Amino acid sequence: MKTEIVAAINDRRRQSPSPATERAVELLEKGEPVALPTETVYGLAADALNPIAVAKIFEAKERPHFDPLIVHLSAYDWLDRVAAVPDDERQFIGKLADHFWPGPLSIVLPKREIIPDIVTAGLDTVAVRISSHPVFEQIIGGFGRPLAAPSANRFGRVSPTTAEHVYDELDGRIPLIVDGGPTAHGIESTIVAVRAGRIDILRRGPITSEQLSKFGKIDIVGPIGKASVPGQLPAHYAPRTPLRLIENAGAFSPEENQRVGLLAWNSVNLEENFAIVRCLSERQDFRQAAANLFCYLRELDRADLDLIVAEQVPLRGLGAAIMDRLQRAAYRPLDEQDRPQ
Ligand code: TXA
Ligand code: MG
Repeated sequence: MKTEIVAAINDRRRQSPSPATERAVELLEKGEPVALPTETVYGLAADALNPIAVAKIFEAKERPHFDPLIVHLSAYDWLDRVAAVPDDERQFIGKLADHFWPGPLSIVLPKREIIPDIVTAGLDTVAVRISSHPVFEQIIGGFGRPLAAPSANRFGRVSPTTAEHVYDELDGRIPLIVDGGPTAHGIESTIVAVRAGRIDILRRGPITSEQLSKFGKIDIVGPIGKASVPGQLPAHYAPRTPLRLIENAGAFSPEENQRVGLLAWNSVNLEENFAIVRCLSERQDFRQAAANLFCYLRELDRADLDLIVAEQVPLRGLGAAIMDRLQRAAYRPLDEQDRPQ
């Protein structure tokens, strides 16, 4: 299959849909998966109500069928059609949605029949969100139905934040990539479940626990250990090159003949010790660091290194979500065969 990349013309004043939107909607209507930009990472989207279309996502990603997908809504009024919002949680969910949608918050709710089992991996819950990316909004608006969309990478690999990353991962496996430029947040949405006014954070992301704590008591599930959420598998986000977390690169010296790359937070001017250095954010801005994270991991992974060392990032705010990804990238199971490929 030839994979086409089409640049999205991001202009909401246009009367008629752009060629990229038209092409994407046409393929979605035919039950094909297409890669689309969201404000977090690129997603591989397909008609969430069509199990055969959704099966093509799993196939292209080589994703195991036990790992459920997030359902993206075209509008808020779809919520009650895909999820059975419990009466006693309705007000609370409404508050979260008012505040954070459209945006990078996915909420896990009891699912309705209309959502095929393949989407939720047989779970009786479904994760939903509304994306704020203008290109995604245009396309899902044109399509008019919910889209199931996981990150557009092969299973277990680093999520794509540009159309080129998607091409590297899925060339030949999908018909279309819509290029909307680099994504704003750079890491995947925060996933929460809600019960009795409490918020369980199932995956950390752009909406921080500090932000959520204004709405209810927070419990953090994870990051490493509990695999009750399949996407919480410890070896997610893995580059091919071994990665080690360190406190300070100034105190690290590579072994002789070892090619080591540095993903820096604190340290600058260490070029002589490392084959390649990428600084997440010279001004130590978490948002900039998150937006650069997956792109730099890919660049380091391509640099033919023996080892990547990554400096730890402070665990406050968005830093906790960045550290969650780095910890998983650093995780090596006892048996390397267990790693998702
Ligand atoms: O930002 C994002 O969330 C991106 C963009 C494309 O929207 N999507 C994304 O999807 O990161 P994915 O499939 O790579 O990660 C979705 C995670 C998985 O870890 C999955 O286990 C979890 O969501 N998930 C989905 N449905 C769930 C459910 N019903 N209960 C618990 N976890 C669920
Ligand atoms: Mg993913």
